[in-house]
Amino acid sequence: MSMPLDYFTHAAGPAAKPVMMLDWVFTGICAAVCVIVAALLVAALMRSREQQADFHYSPEALRWVYIGAGISGAVLLGMAVYMILVFHQILQPPQSPALEITVTGYQWWWRVDYGDFTTANEIHIPTGVPVLVHVKSADVIHTFWVPQLAGKSQIIPGIDNHQWIEADKPGLYRGQCSQLCGVQHAHMAFDVVAQAPADFKAWRAQQISAAARTAAGEKVFMRNCGGCHTIRGTAAAGKYAPDLTHLQSRRELAAGTMENTPQNLKEWVSRAQDLKPGSRMPNISLPPQEEAQLLTYLEGLK
Ligand code: CUA
Repeated sequence: MSMPLDYFTHAAGPAAKPVMMLDWVFTGICAAVCVIVAALLVAALMRSREQQADFHYSPEALRWVYIGAGISGAVLLGMAVYMILVFHQILQPPQSPALEITVTGYQWWWRVDYGDFTTANEIHIPTGVPVLVHVKSADVIHTFWVPQLAGKSQIIPGIDNHQWIEADKPGLYRGQCSQLCGVQHAHMAFDVVAQAPADFKAWRAQQISAAARTAAGEKVFMRNCGGCHTIRGTAAAGKYAPDLTHLQSRRELAAGTMENTPQNLKEWVSRAQDLKPGSRMPNISLPPQEEAQLLTYLEGLK
């Protein structure tokens, strides 16, 4: 799924609005400067050669140079002060965060820890309250970015960084890694699902609950997938790949690469390397009966 233009032009929360406004004001100033400079250039070109010769090095010309430098300096200083004020405004949330989560960037997906459970590539938040997101890297430099909810936050291995996000209204807000981090950087997206507090509470309770496992297929899963993936309550406790305890509660597969449908899941399991070449997920080639059991098992992880 690509990011519609709307994602960059409409801020949906108090951490993003001042930044979006700053963006528009700076764009406006830069556009005005372009127009003024172009108009002056045209005016200069339209002067006759005699007028141009008279003007060279005259005290009048020098005065215009000082006026121009003064206006430019004042505008730049004004922009710098405005930018510092915006930085200050968004540095801290207006009230203490209602929720703290840790998001870890991996090549090329996102692990999301809520303390009592872990999920992947889909961050749920309650609306109307600030959420503090601690960002970490498992490997290289990534950047956490949800344009409608906040500015970008660099994720540098070994350095603790954080970003607060807040959504005014329920909705789906797309996030994307915005630091080139390897061949599948573009397929390192995530969703932020903002929910009314009661809905968020229900989602949270559902995520904390144990996996709805079926016996059939679990052996196949353990043999082929359990070393990398985790399913809470089973022997599968791998840390290299997304936690699949409630796989079917998520909208998408492979960090925003495709919709989470049974057909796409089948494709992803059997030929991940064609769909997301270079990802850590191998092509899993199984006899048809085992593949069917595995898919039934995965589809049961509600
Ligand atoms: Cu992670 Cu780009």
